[in-house]
Amino acid sequence: MSTTLQNDLLIRAALSQHTERPPVWMMRQAGRFMPEYWEIKNKYSFLEMCKTPEIAADVTMLPVDLLGIDAAILFSDILVTAEAMGGNLSFEQGVGPRFSNPVRSAADIERLSTDCLGKLQYVADAIKVIQQRLNGTIPLIGFAGAPFTILSYLVEGGSSKDFKMTKLLLNNEPQLAHKILQKIADVTVDYLNMQIAAGVNAVQLFDSWALALSWNDYQEFAHQYNKYILSKINRTVPVISFCKGSSVFAPIMAEANPDVISVDWNADLKNIKQMLPHGIAVQGNLDPFVLYAEKGVIRSKILQLFERMRGENGFIFNLGHGIMPDIPFDNVKYAIEVVKEFRY
Ligand code: CP3
Repeated sequence: MSTTLQNDLLIRAALSQHTERPPVWMMRQAGRFMPEYWEIKNKYSFLEMCKTPEIAADVTMLPVDLLGIDAAILFSDILVTAEAMGGNLSFEQGVGPRFSNPVRSAADIERLSTDCLGKLQYVADAIKVIQQRLNGTIPLIGFAGAPFTILSYLVEGGSSKDFKMTKLLLNNEPQLAHKILQKIADVTVDYLNMQIAAGVNAVQLFDSWALALSWNDYQEFAHQYNKYILSKINRTVPVISFCKGSSVFAPIMAEANPDVISVDWNADLKNIKQMLPHGIAVQGNLDPFVLYAEKGVIRSKILQLFERMRGENGFIFNLGHGIMPDIPFDNVKYAIEVVKEFRY
C-alpha cells in the first residue's frame, strides 16, 4: 500500500501528515482537454473505453505521463453503478449522460438490482492493469458517485439544471426516495470495497450535485447515506469526500468521518480547514476557470492559495470542480509545474 509508493505525497497529506509541498491532481484530469484523449475517443464510445480495462488504463495513464501529477484517478464514470443496477445508460456527444428508463415509481425502484457487483468486474480488472502500469510510482484513486447524485441522474433521466423531478420526489414521496438511496448506498459499499480489494490507494466519493439541496435535505437525503457508506467500507485507504456545496456543508460532511473533504471554490480553504475537527484534511480549491487565464494569473492565484495554507498539514491541491474540456492543455501543465516547484 502507501508505504511502498515512490511518491506518497497524496497519501501523507490525506492522513494529515507533513509534506514538503502540497500534492496535486485534478478532477477530470483524464479527459477531453487532452488531444491524446481524442485520439482514443474517436475510435470507441465512452462506455467501451470504461469497460475495456486496457483502454481504461491507457486513458488513466495519459495525465500521469503527460502532466506528471501526484496521483492517478481511475478512468470510469460515477454512473456505472446506476447502469449495473438496471439503468439504461448512454453518453451522447453534446448531450451528456442519458437514462432511457428513468426511475420514478415504486415499481421502477423495485426493479433496481442491488446484486450487481459482477457487472462491474471490468472496473476491478482495469484497476489491476493500471496498478501494473503505475508500478508503485504514485497512488491510484478509485471513486464512486454518492447516492443523492446518482439518484438525481436516475430520476431526471440525465443531467439537470434545476433537479425539478428529483426535488418533487424528495418532497412528495420521501419514502420512495429513501428506498432508492438505500439501494444505491448498498451497491456503493460493495463497489468501493471491490475497488479497495483490487488495489486502489485511496477512494473519492463524488456528491457533485449536493449543492442543490437545503441544509435539512442535505442531512436527510445525502449525508445520512454518505455516512453509512463511509462506516461500511473497508477503511484501509484514505477516503476523500467531495461535493459542490462543501463550502456550506463541510461541518456536516465531517460527521461522516472522511479523511479528506474536497472543497468547492467558494470558501476560504484555510477557514474550512480550521473549522474542521483535527485530522480531517482538505482538498481544493482553485476555481477551474482560473485555468483559462494568462499564465501569470494562474501562477499568482495558486501561490496565493499556498500562502494562505502555509503551516497547515493535510492539504491536497486540486480544483474546486473538474477541468472543463476546452481549457488549454498548456495551462493545466503549467499549473502543475507551479505546484511542483513550490516548497513550504
Ligand atoms: O477525473 C477523471 O478524469 C476520471 C474519470 C471521470 C469521468 N467522470 C470521466 C468522464 C470521473 C471521476 C467522472 C465523475 C463524474 N461523472 C461526475 C462527478 C464529478 C463531477 O464532475 O462532478 C459526474 C457528475 C459524472 C457524470 C457525467 N459523466 C457527466 C455529467 C458527463 C458528461 C458531461 C461532462 O461534464 O463531461 C459524463 C461523461 C464523462 N465522464 C466524460 C469523461 C471523460 C466525457 C465523455 C466524452 O468524451 O464524451
